[in-house]
Amino acid sequence: MIALSLAEIAEVVGGQTYDIPDPSVQVTGQVVRDSREVEPGSLFVAFAGEHVDGHDFAAAVVEAGAVAVLASRPVGVPAVVVDDVQRALGALARHVVQKLGATLVALTGSAGKTSTKDLIAQVLRHKAPTVFTPGSLNNEIGLPLTALSATEETRFLVLEMGARGIGHIRYLTELTPPQIGLVINVGTAHIGEFGGREQIAQAKGELVEALPSEADGGAAILNADDPLVRAMAARTGAKVIFFGESGEADVRAENVRLTDRGQPAFRLHTPSGASDVTMRLYGEHHVSNALAAAAVAHELGMSADEIATALSEAGSLSRWRMEVTERPDGVTIVNDAYNANPESMRAALRALAAMGRGRRTWAVLGKMAELGDEALAEHDAVGRLAVRLNVGKLVAVGGREASWLQLGAYNEGSWGEESVHVSDTQAAVDLLRSELRPGDVVLVKASRSVGLERVAQALLPGAAEGEVSAR
Ligand SMILES: Nc1ncnc2c1ncn2[C@@H]1O[C@H](COP(=O)(O)OP(=O)(O)OP(=O)(O)O)[C@@H](O)[C@H]1O
Ligand SMILES: [Mg+2]
Repeated sequence: MIALSLAEIAEVVGGQTYDIPDPSVQVTGQVVRDSREVEPGSLFVAFAGEHVDGHDFAAAVVEAGAVAVLASRPVGVPAVVVDDVQRALGALARHVVQKLGATLVALTGSAGKTSTKDLIAQVLRHKAPTVFTPGSLNNEIGLPLTALSATEETRFLVLEMGARGIGHIRYLTELTPPQIGLVINVGTAHIGEFGGREQIAQAKGELVEALPSEADGGAAILNADDPLVRAMAARTGAKVIFFGESGEADVRAENVRLTDRGQPAFRLHTPSGASDVTMRLYGEHHVSNALAAAAVAHELGMSADEIATALSEAGSLSRWRMEVTERPDGVTIVNDAYNANPESMRAALRALAAMGRGRRTWAVLGKMAELGDEALAEHDAVGRLAVRLNVGKLVAVGGREASWLQLGAYNEGSWGEESVHVSDTQAAVDLLRSELRPGDVVLVKASRSVGLERVAQALLPGAAEGEVSAR
């Protein structure tokens, strides 16, 4: 964090100081909530969780070098005490981003936030020092902690914003008001909690409502290929920039194809020029993510060539998203077990087909969660697509939804050995261990709750034989 005195922090959060001999002492290190991350100069934020109470670590973190604790009660060591620690953390983040002078880029959407955020950061850091959300820490605690990790050098702050209901994004934009707001898509994630896609669009669109006007430098970056996102243009006074594959988009891709390795290649068009991109990431869903990143970077003054170079170099920063491992015996494992929705399932299967030209391919798939009434039709369609793409063998893992996957494949003509339904991850691993041959390519993908990464990990070199570990 930028250096702040305890007196200033107490004032900003409306807190009382306790056991602080000298309020002019400064916090010079990071603001952290995990006692193991405390370094000399840190401010430790004590949350009272269900299982662990951060206040119990107060003495230990001060011993480890923390300057003080942000707490909800006096703890016998230097502390700034407030009624509501989460609100105080938010107020501190807001104060710090106001002082920073960095450009804030915020993004939201149903699927692909982290992938896109990681791409934006990898492009923008070619231009200037960039701080961005680690992993998916996109809620009311992770967001301010990320913002507080910025320093005087930081020019760009890229923040992932997640929502589980109306008002969530608005709250996050109050903590860290963005200048650039990006909405990547409106899908079905958490549809049960929201009530429907219209409600999801309502909630995600709070991001563009919060932007400054065009005259004040606000820019809304919207996916032209997604009607519910396109419609958000009417909800903002900011400048609107569209990205997408549609010909009307300001930032678009032409000649999109997958290389033999399953990596997307395309010609990037921006309002100020065009350039060729060949990505290191796998799967065509990354084309949309790359265009979103390109639109942000273009708005921040990068040229098409600079953006294309950065996109072509960008790797995967977060785990289990089309993570490709080549085993010494020539088997390729593609671990995309982080999550799944119909669109990313199709993208992953197409990538598998491209990577597997001339090789035996396996699709180890499990359920896609939160599809409501569409669940049967969507699983059926994925099973059919696996057959149409000529995937060598579909291994459907789990309960009812897995049986729908397999039935779809069966009805599409895969009635021989080409598809199988197994009840759990252990059965999948046993089958694969006995049947994989050198040169095979294996895709592993399902919604988070299925835990298919255990299958992918059990197939990696060095994994112990025998039982699949619990998570
Ligand atoms: N543009 C996209 N459209 C649809 N699906 C995508 C897209 N990009 C990534 N995905 C899929 O969504 C999964 C989750 O990706 P990612 O972690 O980037 O999303 P997220 O929105 O950050 O998720 P979370 O809500 O868990 O934070 C990936 O495994 C991938 O299969
Ligand atoms: Mg995420």
